[in-house]
Amino acid sequence: MDQKKTFYITTPIYYPSGNMTIGHTYTTVAADTMTRFKKMQGYDTYFLTGTDEHGQKIEKKAAEQGVTPIEYVDKIVAETKDLWKLMNIEYDDFIRTTQDRHMKIVQKIFRQFYEQGDIYKSAYEGMYCTPCESFWTPTQLVEKDGVKVCPDCGRPCQPMQEESYFFRMSKYQDWLIDYIETHPDFIQPAKRANEMINNFLKPGLQDLCVSRTSVKWGVPVDFDDKHTVYVWIDALSNYITALGYGTDHDELFKKYWPADIHLVGKEIVRFHTIYWPIMLHALGLPLPKQVFGHGWLLFGADRMSKSKGNVVYPQPIVARYGVDALRYYLMREMPFGADGNYTNESFLTRMNADLANDLGNLVSRTVAMIEKYFDGVVPAWDKTADEPVGNDLRAHCAALPGLVEEQMDKLQFSQALAEIWKVIGECNKYIDLTQPWVLGKDEAKKGLLGNVLLTLAECVRFVAVLIRPVMPSTPERIFEQLGVQEEALKSWESLSCFGALPQGIRVRKGEALFPRIDVNKELEALSGKEEKKEEKKEAKQEKKEQKADKKEKKKAEIPEGCIGFDDFEKIKLRVARVVECERVEKSEKLLKFRLSLGDEERTVLSGIAKFHTPEELIGKKLILLANLAPRKIMGIESQGMLLSAVKTNEDGSETLRLLTADPIMPDGAEIG
Ligand code: MSP
Repeated sequence: MDQKKTFYITTPIYYPSGNMTIGHTYTTVAADTMTRFKKMQGYDTYFLTGTDEHGQKIEKKAAEQGVTPIEYVDKIVAETKDLWKLMNIEYDDFIRTTQDRHMKIVQKIFRQFYEQGDIYKSAYEGMYCTPCESFWTPTQLVEKDGVKVCPDCGRPCQPMQEESYFFRMSKYQDWLIDYIETHPDFIQPAKRANEMINNFLKPGLQDLCVSRTSVKWGVPVDFDDKHTVYVWIDALSNYITALGYGTDHDELFKKYWPADIHLVGKEIVRFHTIYWPIMLHALGLPLPKQVFGHGWLLFGADRMSKSKGNVVYPQPIVARYGVDALRYYLMREMPFGADGNYTNESFLTRMNADLANDLGNLVSRTVAMIEKYFDGVVPAWDKTADEPVGNDLRAHCAALPGLVEEQMDKLQFSQALAEIWKVIGECNKYIDLTQPWVLGKDEAKKGLLGNVLLTLAECVRFVAVLIRPVMPSTPERIFEQLGVQEEALKSWESLSCFGALPQGIRVRKGEALFPRIDVNKELEALSGKEEKKEEKKEAKQEKKEQKADKKEKKKAEIPEGCIGFDDFEKIKLRVARVVECERVEKSEKLLKFRLSLGDEERTVLSGIAKFHTPEELIGKKLILLANLAPRKIMGIESQGMLLSAVKTNEDGSETLRLLTADPIMPDGAEIG
């Protein structure tokens, strides 16, 4: 039996900690484009996406909103699915890590690792980044303003200790180096393979912490219920649990595994090319054929983030300009693998130049001329009318599918589109060169004119077929105007010979595919719209928080001798670095401090001179009650109070020591 070749592609499973942005949309559109391309080429495709729903961050977000974690993620998942529908994303499955089908198998995988000795129990001591839920080794931390910060997000890490299970990654290190070196296609772009080998593998792999006792919102370890499975074993397994791996219904797994491509952003290449291959190898499974780490859509110099307030959501763009315009822009603007900037301006400019002018004009001019000179009926090729001017164009267009395939197979969407647009540009030039409006005036040139218009119509058909993976709905509008109804003429196969467009079909002029837009006017409209949406969202969030607050207050009856949370919140404690310190003249007790809070300096007096010398305190990071009303002591204004601990000695005297903060904390860091 003739079995179709399979093609299995995945996106990362996204954290539903907030709504999906244009960044998540970028990866998902790329995966969808690739799937559509392979499907058109006759592959039996499978496209998986989903959400990574466990972990501390989700727990926290849900608590902030006064809902349960599952309520919180359910809502975001529903909105994510709506967005994918809007973006014309045709996935085959959407896996959620909270689904039973996933959790059961994760437990089974974890147990197997434990039983075969890949996982062992120990205690973890290290630097931990709470927002990223990642432990980092000292060599991985990055130094920023004298502070060691998380290499992924740039925020400070905290020392942490916890009983944990560990995966013996080190055991597989040499095998993996060898695998990567002997499989040059495994990690793409190739420079990322070098990064992995030089930055992580060669310096020596640390064993990976794979469980948590402090996170309840996770897959329980079924033989040690104090622990939940830590994010990466849970998350990465989705690529096989979704296919039924480890169950009695593993037909999909047998059919599609190993995956052809895991598409991931460059920040998670490490997890997909080190931990995931080792996990798979330990399970005795083959590795995915390729992990492609693409670049980031940046906004100015920054990666988009909610806290920076530069998030772009696709919905308003799609509502105004249609889904195909955005899909085109995302796939065209930057080479896949490199970073690029998103700006409304570059989007609008591209829309005008590539879509309204180049493509839109070609289609409308071609159809209009066939209507005008041939009553809307596509003419047959006239062998008697020699038309040498178009030879190059016809040859170029015939070769175009091959050129596009070559780029698409390397996931170079931007290059593939550039190839197509070269032909579009050539077509527009061809019109200017052949001047059909001149030929149309001379009855003797009718055959020649027919050949020119047929050439253009066939080029337009080629283009419409070739852009289908990127722009799923525009080609239909082109086919409608061209009068192409037969599915066979819309297929990749039909591009094997230039000239398949049948004579006699009737064109019909329709609306402009992409109307020309006034960039300045649209820029205004887009920013206004976004602002309003953001305001609305913030107001909604505020309301929710107020509601949660009220609930909280009701719950919290404050026992005597305690302060309420609201009172505690009034206290502003901050990390203060001692810049200068000296004794106060005529005082035995007082030291005068000059403290740095990062953005300001303070003078503070403290009655601690009997217990510390000024010299030992310089450079120390102390804890300052920063919002205590200023007070004059011995003529000097003290702007806050340094915290200290006190111990009563056996003879009744007291020893005081100033409290210090971890030196990695930046000046002024808030304590709470
Ligand atoms: N849950 C993990 C992935 C686990 S996969 C087993 C995760 N989730 S995420 O929600 O943070 O999504 C990250 C992915 O979204 C990136 O790898 C990338 O594919 C995509 N992007 C999100 N923002 C992006 C940009 N601004 N630019 C490009 N891609 C971006 O990490």
